[in-house]
Amino acid sequence: MSDISTAINKPIDVTQTDAWALLQTHYDTDFNQPDLLKTWFNQDPHRVEKLSFDVNDLRFDLSKNLLVARTVELLCQLGREVHLEERRDAMFAGKHINTTEDRAVLHTALRRPAQQAGTLMVDGQDVVADVHEVLKRMYAFAHKVRSGEWTGVTGKRIKTVVSIGIGGSDLGPYMMYEALKPYADAGITCRFVSNIDPTDLAEKTADLDPETTLVIVVSKTFTTLETLTNARGARTWLLESLRAAGSIDNSDQAAANAIERHFVAVSTNLELVREFGINPDNAFGFWNWVGGRYSVDSAVGLALIVAFGEQRFQELLEGFHDMDTYFATTPLEKNVVALMGLLNVWYVNFFGMSSHAVLPYDQYLHRFPAYLQQLTMESNGKSVRWDGTATTTDTGEIFWGEPGTNGQHAFYQLIHQGTRKIPCDFIAFVNPVHPTRDGQQDVHELFLGNFLAQTKALAFGKTADEVRAEGTPEWMVPARVFSGDRPTTSIFGSALTPHALGELVALYEHITFVEGTVWGLDSYDQWGVELGKQLAKQITPAFHDDEALAQQDASTRSLIAFYRDKRR
Ligand code: F6P
Repeated sequence: MSDISTAINKPIDVTQTDAWALLQTHYDTDFNQPDLLKTWFNQDPHRVEKLSFDVNDLRFDLSKNLLVARTVELLCQLGREVHLEERRDAMFAGKHINTTEDRAVLHTALRRPAQQAGTLMVDGQDVVADVHEVLKRMYAFAHKVRSGEWTGVTGKRIKTVVSIGIGGSDLGPYMMYEALKPYADAGITCRFVSNIDPTDLAEKTADLDPETTLVIVVSKTFTTLETLTNARGARTWLLESLRAAGSIDNSDQAAANAIERHFVAVSTNLELVREFGINPDNAFGFWNWVGGRYSVDSAVGLALIVAFGEQRFQELLEGFHDMDTYFATTPLEKNVVALMGLLNVWYVNFFGMSSHAVLPYDQYLHRFPAYLQQLTMESNGKSVRWDGTATTTDTGEIFWGEPGTNGQHAFYQLIHQGTRKIPCDFIAFVNPVHPTRDGQQDVHELFLGNFLAQTKALAFGKTADEVRAEGTPEWMVPARVFSGDRPTTSIFGSALTPHALGELVALYEHITFVEGTVWGLDSYDQWGVELGKQLAKQITPAFHDDEALAQQDASTRSLIAFYRDKRR
């Protein structure tokens, strides 16, 4: 590790680096012509080999991106000029790179193996030992629930987990639960409640038996309005339903017993958990050096251990750790994680490509784009650098996506022929979970054929002559031409296992870090969510209070007048 102080004290203005100027010249000189990918593929028979990377379970093919060897060289120079490696090492070592909150950023410690206890002391604490102590308690608790030793207050086995949280306390566990569903082996299903819209809780509990339901309240701060409101709502639902069924009486003691058996919590704020009425013995902690959107592999993932078991969670953590190790130890030129982050900077700042699609060709990953939206956009959607100065470039890609092939019949038109180019990450797996024959053909191969067809069409397009050769009338030819040179990265895995999923999530965590470092951002704070929270508190009384209404702006007043008029 070298020069940590430079890496964390003063962000380098990336636009003033030598690499930036060289990249600009490279862009102006080498990228202003059509059919780049066709030309490069024809000129270099080894292009794919040179730009393919195997990392544990995953193959990364970067060859259909807008880059050549010189681009890789300059992007790595750029990384070095902004001290990317030093800052990466500082993060892994627990330095306070989250400057605005003066915190270490140590989600990578959550997946360090137990044997590494004693090797990472942060602010006087052995963080690896702490992590494994909580993991041990989580495994013991989950084992009791899965085996039926832990029952509801009437002695029935738990069949459903309702996990209540929002943002990082929801998106990660929800996405992973959906992704790993085939691994659920204890007859326990999970539901996730996040929205403060009462519909969410009402819909998720409508058909539930409270006697067999376990509620996990997940909140890093345990102050989040949505989560506490839903937790109170769930408590009311549970107690009222149990009373109505005659399962418990109306006494406070009966209520306390029921809460004890049906509510557990995950938080860094165990004092507030106690105040809420949840027994601290049933609470699982984590630490302020874990950002909410980086917390799925902390106690925030408790529902996953209940559903899938200890072994699967360990495999997930190993996947994370393997990707961490790869990112931390591989030289930039060979480090596909760093390269993907640098490539995103290349697209945003030189090509003006401001959005990025993530397109999983796996239905089980249907929540993955939503998960990545928080990870990437809450981290890098900023216009101030980590020392309080203004950014000097565009930052923060807009991440979005849907699983293929559904997206093909919705928004791919714009990706193929729109005026703006959108880099896309395609994610697919060789081995499916379910039988794949429809009586005629291997449906999984048909599915994967679509994935490959899309990346091929985006890269190489279709020329006017090819369109004409199909007998298309001349006036219609332009509408049927595909320009090509639309960049894609293909991530191809053997199977969507817990290990592969851990790798994938760690990959995007580190891509986000790389982008943030180049742009000079503190990717680990989220001040941009605060104003809306403050104003919601101030505005809500105005629905019924004239004084509060009078304090609002004209538009808010008018919308509340409409509400008052229409509310039944
Ligand atoms: O409002 C944004 C945010 O702070 C996220 O960063 C976080 O993941 C989410 O709210 C939930 O916070 P908590 O886990 O503290 O309830």
